[in-house]
Amino acid sequence: MPDPWPRSARWTSAGLEVGGLAAADLAERFGTPLLVIDDADMRERMRAMTSAFPRVAYAVKAMTCAAVIRAALEEGLDLLCASGGEVATCLRAGAPASRILLHGNAKTDAELALAVEAGLSAVIVDDGDELDRLAAIARAAGTSQPILLRVTPDVAVATHEAIATGHAASKFGVPLAAAAELARRAAATAGIRLTGLHAHAGSQVLDVDAHVRVVRALLRVAADAGIRPAILDVGGGFGVTYTDETPSEPATIATALRDELDAASVDAELQVEPGRVVVANPGLTLYRVLARKQAGGRSLVAVDGGMSDNLRPALYDARHDVAAVASMEAPTERVTVVGRHCESGDVVAEDIALPSGLARGDLLAVAATGAYTYPLASAYNRFGRPAVVGVRDGRATLWIRREDVDDMDRLDVILGTPWETGALPTAEGGAHT
Ligand code: LLP
Repeated sequence: MPDPWPRSARWTSAGLEVGGLAAADLAERFGTPLLVIDDADMRERMRAMTSAFPRVAYAVKAMTCAAVIRAALEEGLDLLCASGGEVATCLRAGAPASRILLHGNAKTDAELALAVEAGLSAVIVDDGDELDRLAAIARAAGTSQPILLRVTPDVAVATHEAIATGHAASKFGVPLAAAAELARRAAATAGIRLTGLHAHAGSQVLDVDAHVRVVRALLRVAADAGIRPAILDVGGGFGVTYTDETPSEPATIATALRDELDAASVDAELQVEPGRVVVANPGLTLYRVLARKQAGGRSLVAVDGGMSDNLRPALYDARHDVAAVASMEAPTERVTVVGRHCESGDVVAEDIALPSGLARGDLLAVAATGAYTYPLASAYNRFGRPAVVGVRDGRATLWIRREDVDDMDRLDVILGTPWETGALPTAEGGAHT
């Protein structure tokens, strides 16, 4: 049975333990909602990728914080950034520019200039106009920028529509039919050094064959263009277990992809860009139950967070496993776990089995929340983004502190100015006195 929980998670008589610590103690010490990441598990999953593939870049967007960025660097992964902001955070976290790649379907001139000035290891170029803009910036700086050319592989994958990227109508990459010509042009452009080709089929992809088809598309473009790319980057998107999905092992995927290169006698290095597969399962979120209600035949459990700390159910109909922290083994009832935002779509988990009699103050744990939760978190309803802690061998380390109202109000420029109460209009159009 596939297991979505962190590898160190276990239920003892004291309830859920993770990283050798009682989840109830973590909730007490750091408050809730709390994102807990099993550091040893995350690093093991990073190593599984580096031992399967020659080149691995962690997709920073999946969980963007210094602790994870530094762990990735320590474990031998490079960093894939989706924006200048992500690049800045990686540089501040201590990453050498030579280990950072930048992608994105619509990059600004400022981002391209940052890439050239910092000396990023590669820019993943998305279209011909961007190629020309980048080349001009690099020439003006008297340098030559290594690039990968992103190809839309025209590969349909079975995943949620919002996270499929490789179909023909995708906004990402150069359409397959135009890719060989642009690759030839890139290879001949001063200020540009074409080191390889790139494609990404989509995210939460469980079908190995989809990645194989991506490789085939890249091989076809290389052959048509008459180039010998040093790197073939097949993107990320490796699926994980949220409830009962069974993903393939990284080594199995790597072998299937390597076989394609061998069959075509192409001697390129395979590069992958995993995000979710290294951070989703090591993470879990702890919530406290705030309210219970019976409504229209539904048994509702409301917790102290929701769509501001995990947008995935609302955005992608995502399902996550949920468990009571206190016990795995009570008689259960069917409940729907909802958040406390002012939106009916603010659902944590729809119609799931949880121990009956859950009450205000009880703790719930939601599995596989290490990827694409915190980076998509918002200040909606002013709850503040949760704290993030790393756990390992019985020790907890605060990675990101909880956001408070002062943090959120800091950007509101008017809030910092004196309030002229006399100038406030009334409903009648006059002024308050
Ligand atoms: N490479 C490229 C070019 C990407 O666009 C992405 C993700 C990745 C790598 C990493 O994909 P991963 O291995 O993490 O699946 N917020 C959504 C997922 C958005 C993915 C965006 N691109 C979710 O929560 O499912």
